[in-house]
Amino acid sequence: MFKKADNNALWAIGISLVLFFIGGILTTVVPPLVDTSWAKPFANQDPAKGMTGKVLPLTDLQKKGRDIYVREGCWYCHTQQVRTLLADTKRYGWRGVDAPISTPDEFVYDDPHMFGTKRTGPDLARIGGKYDEQWHRTHFRNPRDLVKGSIMPPYPWIVNNPEEFKAMVAYLQSLGRGKDWRPANDYEK
Ligand code: HEC
Repeated sequence: MFKKADNNALWAIGISLVLFFIGGILTTVVPPLVDTSWAKPFANQDPAKGMTGKVLPLTDLQKKGRDIYVREGCWYCHTQQVRTLLADTKRYGWRGVDAPISTPDEFVYDDPHMFGTKRTGPDLARIGGKYDEQWHRTHFRNPRDLVKGSIMPPYPWIVNNPEEFKAMVAYLQSLGRGKDWRPANDYEK
């Protein structure tokens, strides 16, 4: 069969298409059938060990914040997925604790997902609880007041609209909290 493809263009194209099709099935259809963890929201309920992490649907306020995140195109520059790389788990970790790697069961309620594609800014999958409201207020007003040379644009219209600002911060504080991984002494209060 493969000999024929050597000498005949139609065979070569036909066999290429078949192999391409098999590759497509193996990489897109088969994985979610083998690993069905994406279908159930992450839950780590072991109160004895102090673990109460659970991925919950967004509240109305957080949903509003998410709409603003979409409207402002935050996802052009920010991803929301911690990859299986040390560079990611260390960088997005906190006070010596590595950030957990993102898993499909964290995104059950994320529709459409905000994975993003371009890492111009830091990943935001574990941003929840990293900073307090005041930090976000100053940062949105002018990122360069906090981070020298930051190329994130200022968003004064979010800060100047108390309702929008509250929703935006509520959404950011919810990100990555489901895994209950930060030590208790974080900023979120
Ligand atoms: C032009 C690209 C760009 C856009 C658009 C953008 N950011 Fe950023 N963002 C950055 C960069 C670069 C940084 C890192 C420097 C800094 O902290 O200012 C950053 C930092 C951040 C941080 C702090 C992350 C950390 O771990 O310290 C948060 C939170 C954040 N951005 C939220 C947002 C939100 C919400 C929006 C939409 C309203 C947004 N960004 C839009 C580029 C961008």
